Amino acid sequence: MSLAHRPPAASAPRVAILGAGIIGLAAAFELAVRRGVPVTVYDPAPFGRGASWAAAGMLAPAFEAAAETGAHPHLFELCHHGAELWPAFAADVGAASGTPLGFSAGPSLALAFDRDQTAALHHLARALDERGIAHEELRPGAAHELEPAIAPDLVAALHLPTDGQVDNRAVVSALIAALRACPHAALVNEAAPLADEGNGLTVPGHDLILAAAGWKTAAIEVRQDGELYSLVNWDTSLDEIDCYGGQMLSVGVGPDMPAMTLRCGGIYVAPKAERVIIGATMEPGIATEAPEPDKIAALRADAARLCPAIADAPELETWAGIRPGTPDRAPLIGATAAPGLYVAAGHYRNGILLAPITAHIIADLILGQPVHALAGEFSPHRSYSPVA
Ligand code: GLY
Repeated sequence: MSLAHRPPAASAPRVAILGAGIIGLAAAFELAVRRGVPVTVYDPAPFGRGASWAAAGMLAPAFEAAAETGAHPHLFELCHHGAELWPAFAADVGAASGTPLGFSAGPSLALAFDRDQTAALHHLARALDERGIAHEELRPGAAHELEPAIAPDLVAALHLPTDGQVDNRAVVSALIAALRACPHAALVNEAAPLADEGNGLTVPGHDLILAAAGWKTAAIEVRQDGELYSLVNWDTSLDEIDCYGGQMLSVGVGPDMPAMTLRCGGIYVAPKAERVIIGATMEPGIATEAPEPDKIAALRADAARLCPAIADAPELETWAGIRPGTPDRAPLIGATAAPGLYVAAGHYRNGILLAPITAHIIADLILGQPVHALAGEFSPHRSYSPVA
């Protein structure tokens, strides 16, 4: 089955999207495939191979946003509404590309093996109570029934029905396929010819520009008077996006391996169809894409504490990704100081989760349609209450 492409209206703006990660690709899909707006996506790097490829596909508003101390006061709401858009987004992207995405709306299990971890689960449960979000404390026996691969000395567990996952690599591949099949979408494997020759920022042949290059957004090149400058000179708020490195690995699936998404502190185990992803370190200021053997070994050992079978599972891949984060852990979404330039970047741990809602907000803003009530909270020009 394929999703019919909506033809462009004569009045539709032509949009240049700078960045072919999941945010830029999802915005292109929303604009071109769902709303009939002509788009060109530019990226000099291989499409969809940055943070979107490195991610684990966690769609985890409860575990990753509800109890994040000091984060943007509306980050959880954005994540929660973002999760609500995922089923339709997965269905449309799957239909447009003919590719299964491995989407699961939930649940996940958060686990505790000692007193500190149990206290952290209680903290999370209180945050979810305050927000009216469904969750259930499980006795170890009940958790083992749901997921027999969990280590026998489990102390406590929290069932999180809101926290799902998707195969992020399948999603970006499917978005690329859907855009390639769309008659009014183009993918260009080069830097955009972005320039300011005295009349503001332009990409020839386009009316509006979306900067969506993750942690590299501020550094997007702009030609002016024959020289190259960085986009941050047109809006200093882009400088708020910093790097947060993450080391990860995947191991093979097998009969004793987990089938459910499991979390414990900073460790997650995300089973996909043909691999089990284990993540992740969180390293502020680190922008390396090289896996480091000692950190990978520590991740595997921590994950084996959750599920003993992980200790002997064959290693498939190790890698490192770079999350783009802002001081309040929330993305920049909206119009910039430069006329005609929008930004969608800085999604921190929630880029996969927030791709559909970000795309929706950007499309509404660009098309002058009523925007989600939360959108203004994530303006690039908000004031920050940085995470302590
Ligand atoms: N969302 C998973 C991570 O940031 O590691």
